[in-house]
Amino acid sequence: MQNLDSQEKTSRVNPLAELFEHTTINGMNLANRFVRSATWEGLADKEGSVTKRLSGMMVELAKGELGLIISGYTFVSPEGQSSPGQMAVYDDRFLPGLRDMTEAVHSAGGKIALQLVHGGCNANSNLTGLELVGPTAVQIEDQLGCRSAGKEEIAAIVSAFARSAARAREAGFDAIQIHAAHGFLLSQFLSPAFNKRTDEYGGGLENRARFLLEVVGSVREAVGPRYPVMIKLNAEDFLVGGMTRDEAIQVSTMMERASVDAVEFSGGTVASAVEFMPPRPGRTQNPGQEVFYRDAARLYKQKVSIPLILVGGIRSYEVAEELVRNGLTDYIAMSRPLICEPGLIRRWREGDRRTSECVSDNACFAPASDGSGVYCVTMAKKRSKAGR
Ligand SMILES: Cc1cc2nc3c(=O)[nH]c(=O)nc-3n(C[C@H](O)[C@H](O)[C@H](O)COP(=O)(O)O)c2cc1C
Repeated sequence: MQNLDSQEKTSRVNPLAELFEHTTINGMNLANRFVRSATWEGLADKEGSVTKRLSGMMVELAKGELGLIISGYTFVSPEGQSSPGQMAVYDDRFLPGLRDMTEAVHSAGGKIALQLVHGGCNANSNLTGLELVGPTAVQIEDQLGCRSAGKEEIAAIVSAFARSAARAREAGFDAIQIHAAHGFLLSQFLSPAFNKRTDEYGGGLENRARFLLEVVGSVREAVGPRYPVMIKLNAEDFLVGGMTRDEAIQVSTMMERASVDAVEFSGGTVASAVEFMPPRPGRTQNPGQEVFYRDAARLYKQKVSIPLILVGGIRSYEVAEELVRNGLTDYIAMSRPLICEPGLIRRWREGDRRTSECVSDNACFAPASDGSGVYCVTMAKKRSKAGR
């Protein structure tokens, strides 16, 4: 923090940037620069409808004073579901539950965006009973196999994203985020490691980004110009032959031109080595090791003007403050620290600036999978040991 100032000043530094200041993203007013990064909660019902417990979890986060909550990934088409208890938005029948969620969050003073996803070859045919579709055919263990999507299927998925975005707006979400990271469908198309197509959707970056650009274009048309459309992108795939950091910056520039309002940088895919998966396991030993995509953020701020939301490994107030003050990012996003402590931001705002107790052991995935809903298993054990 102290040591980084001179090397990390970039051309787009806002010297007045502070963590607890109000900002706006395309008309969406945010009370501070903290964002809950999308986190699958595993609490939707079998169909994908919002449950009371799921809304309750969002309310806890809103009471924790996050500037913006991004929902767990929500599938836009039945064959695009990856996880049990995942939210769905592909039909109007999901509207009442989604509306309950936004109303509950707004009543608690929060702002919430819906994250839209299609799992592609990382959907789960055991859950959906449907064939998987992706850029290129692959056989996947224990699954029905992933087929290469035809042009009509691509067009249908583009419309599914657009209709889902319109539905999110109708349900009262303050913004939407298109999930194009982590090796799900849109990320698979971007990545030469997954995308071996020889038509206009494969090959050079312009072609690999075509599907995403079509999605962004039709989403923008569906929601209109004055509604925040954000995107989550990999800063790097960390795969042999995967999307590189330079390409991620180029895609971000394309997003800016396509009227996207903010980019969230994450990285890795479910196929990457475990130490480069999006939720990298293992506690960082000191604040200097916290930020997974610092170099990518620096490059982004030199080339791209729309706001950056940075996620991955951020655990301490001092690091968050340094990133924002030095212009490395506009927003600080976290996932696991907020599973561990939904009230973390309120605590920091009140002056208790101790670092998150999250140990990044990823034990939180198990209860999301078994229907109990995501929670910090390690913290719960610690509390029960201490008799709290
Ligand atoms: C239980 C769990 C569920 C997640 N679900 C999503 C998701 O639905 N969408 C998404 O984009 N990322 C998801 N992620 C990844 C996080 O948003 C984030 O990118 C990653 O955990 C790194 O941030 P962190 O170090 O603050 O946890 C999930 C992570 C965890 C631990």
